[in-house]
Amino acid sequence: MKGVILAGGKGTRLYPLTKATNKHLLPVGREPMIYHPIRHMVAAGITDILVVTSVDHMGEMVNCLGSGVELGCGLTYRVQDGALGIANALSLAEGFAGGGKICVFLGDNVFQSSIAPIVESFRRQDKGARVVIKSVHDPERYGVAALDEQHIVEIEEKPAKPKTSFAVVGLYFYDGQVFDIIRGIKPSARGEYEITSVNNAYIARRQLQYEIYPGAWTDAGTFESLIEANKLLHDTANEIAR
Ligand code: G1P
Repeated sequence: MKGVILAGGKGTRLYPLTKATNKHLLPVGREPMIYHPIRHMVAAGITDILVVTSVDHMGEMVNCLGSGVELGCGLTYRVQDGALGIANALSLAEGFAGGGKICVFLGDNVFQSSIAPIVESFRRQDKGARVVIKSVHDPERYGVAALDEQHIVEIEEKPAKPKTSFAVVGLYFYDGQVFDIIRGIKPSARGEYEITSVNNAYIARRQLQYEIYPGAWTDAGTFESLIEANKLLHDTANEIAR
């Protein structure tokens, strides 16, 4: 399975920290944020990894990560022009994926414990997609999953009135259908191609599996969550991915 790390965007919620650099190069714990998804993937046996980032800070990203050899992986880079959303960024991975299964990691997500068991579940999954959910106190900030006994029946992106407390976290697994699905989705009201639309398309095909992440998780895209991410990787002396 190959890996895709989405590390674009302007990081406006973190201004002025992100005026001169990419959000994913800001420090979290003792390392730049972007090291975290790479270490998780490598620890789970994913060593062929594409990094998608925006044109303004691509040079710094390459300066920081190089070929990937120091982190035990091989890196490929692609530039996302503009801010057309996560699904648009993912569409740049089509040639890299070559029709195979992919693990997609949003570069500002921090996971306390190993993701290897989830990667294994998807290796065994016949087809379709897999998402990961986590109960949170502020679901309105995320994609929110509505569930019946066995399945996710709907995901709503940043709903004003969330139906459950389950956020869909930024770790997704897709089979080769994902790129056709992306071509079929329409931009949301905020003008972005949403990853939630992609996941809902898999629900419509009855091909979306899920699991609940057992460890602590946060994103790091706001000042509050960036502090949380720093605490998580510092206080817990996160060793998973080393
Ligand atoms: C994105 C996704 C959202 C997901 C979140 C996880 O939101 O759109 O569905 O729950 O990442 O971090 P963003 O934080 O980019 O607005």
